[in-house]
Amino acid sequence: AFQVKLSTSGRLIEVAPDVTVAAALAAAGVDLPTSCEQGVCGTCLTRVLSGEPDHRDVYLTDEEKAANDQFLPCCSRSKSPVLVLDL
Ligand code: FES
Repeated sequence: AFQVKLSTSGRLIEVAPDVTVAAALAAAGVDLPTSCEQGVCGTCLTRVLSGEPDHRDVYLTDEEKAANDQFLPCCSRSKSPVLVLDL
């Protein structure tokens, strides 16, 4: 498990192993647009301010993934204990 931190409120949200980041955000009342939920469409693209995403989508290019400044929370996860999001 890891946590995502909302930069605007400082809120920490736990993401359990069997739950997507998008689902954890939705359960916490955070409004995030999603569509395909498979890492294909890019609808849920979210900026990452710190931490290292574990990219599992097919939307971002390798260069974009390596930059670690955005990720797709419908399918991607985190390699670091906390991922700080621009939300
Ligand atoms: Fe389509 Fe996340 S909802 S990439």
